[in-house]
Amino acid sequence: MIETWQADAILLFGATGDLSRRMLLPSLYFLDADGFLPDGFKVLCTARAHLTREEFVAQVRELLLARSEGLDEAVWKRFEPRLEFTAADATTEAGARELAPMLEGVQAPMFYFSLSPSLYGRVCVALAAAGLAHDQTRIVLEKPIGRDLATSDEINVAVGAVFAEKRIFRIDHYLGKETVQNLIALRFANTLFEPLWNNLTIDHVQITVAETEGVGERWPYYDEYGALRDMLQNHMLQLLCLVAMEPPADMEPNSVRNEKVKVLRSLRRFTRLDAQNNSIRGQYTPGVVGGKQVKGYEAERGQASGIDTFVALRADIDNWRWAGVPFFLRTGKRLPERRTQIAIQFKPVPHSIFGAQARDDLVANRLVIDLQPDEDIKLTLMNKAPGVSAGGMRLQSMPLSLSLLSTYEGPGARRPIAYERLLLDVIRGNSTLFVRRDEVEEAWRWIDGVAEAWREANLTPKPYAAGSWGPAGAFALIERAGRAWSD
Ligand code: BG6
Repeated sequence: MIETWQADAILLFGATGDLSRRMLLPSLYFLDADGFLPDGFKVLCTARAHLTREEFVAQVRELLLARSEGLDEAVWKRFEPRLEFTAADATTEAGARELAPMLEGVQAPMFYFSLSPSLYGRVCVALAAAGLAHDQTRIVLEKPIGRDLATSDEINVAVGAVFAEKRIFRIDHYLGKETVQNLIALRFANTLFEPLWNNLTIDHVQITVAETEGVGERWPYYDEYGALRDMLQNHMLQLLCLVAMEPPADMEPNSVRNEKVKVLRSLRRFTRLDAQNNSIRGQYTPGVVGGKQVKGYEAERGQASGIDTFVALRADIDNWRWAGVPFFLRTGKRLPERRTQIAIQFKPVPHSIFGAQARDDLVANRLVIDLQPDEDIKLTLMNKAPGVSAGGMRLQSMPLSLSLLSTYEGPGARRPIAYERLLLDVIRGNSTLFVRRDEVEEAWRWIDGVAEAWREANLTPKPYAAGSWGPAGAFALIERAGRAWSD
């Protein structure tokens, strides 16, 4: 059931950090601009930095002014009085007590932890000791929840000792992206695809998350995680779940999450042989991205490292719907372009009635769901090439596009930040787009299996030049299966 609980305040921990500045505070401002923040809703902020409220508010104004969307003074007039700031060390009971005055009069706060996950447990204990964690409180946790099943368990147990599972919202910001939600609409609001969505018609699925950015200053975090734990365990497995899950009975949180967990449980465990044949790890070396010479990971890190900045692998889902349909996943930093894409490759027609020439034109249908940088859903279909040709009918592949670009064109139009949708869902108590504890655990169980298989096979990252599509092995991996990466 979606509860009727509604937040009347957010208390943002780590409010001066990068995520708060780039995503969370702007998202709250835009929610206010669009009229979604309830009257009297407070934006309470805390961090260790010794700032006064005035200094903090000035920083928020500045960061909003610096954004391309600009600042609307009328919205700012509404937003600014919502802001409060208290400097505190929330890992101690005394520090948590300093937050109490801000929460006076607040009935149903949502605590947003934009903190290092190693602090989650301690902050929860401190909040409970200070009497700030009651049954009207909700808590929002950022990834990564641990770096394997054991450490994610530690965090979940520590947080779970203070907050019941239904009061915990684990964020995966990919679930807030417009096209990801559109994937749910595409699958379950059309009769067209669902009967074809199985191993009888689909040949394979590809999920690519390519980034041009390097790791840069984030290496102290990244060097512990690598692409497998930073991207695959969460964002990519979530996308895979949404593609592969059975139709849920409705959009209620547990209906959707039950289906996703079933997919994760059906993922075939990786073996040492899979590590060798069905996966590849890479690490970028110096190269050119977007016309600019960039450093290799080792130079950013300051010394050699065994961590992967690129991973490609083949996953198999052992259930009736997907038996025999490989899912190829690929993600990396410092690739030639930013692209997040899901490609559903249909099987070729079983028999061609066309002449020799047209037979060569035949291309199997493909449904391409672009999430970034542009949002688009394209279905390629074969049709007759226009005009007369000497050798008989010619065919051509044409895309049928549901381009979402135009939605964000024109004055005043802007592309929402993924966090806006998710913050609004927390405010309204709807956890459908949040990750349940058993989902996190199942995802880790599978990822731990991959890491274990890599260890057994002694699979180390292969170098790839920044600006390339990863090590050559990434192409060999998919070609061995008789397929190719979609362009
Ligand atoms: C984060 C990862 O979760 O997602 C980053 O930690 C990554 O390494 C980012 O760059 C990608 O998010 P987006 O929304 O830019 O695709």
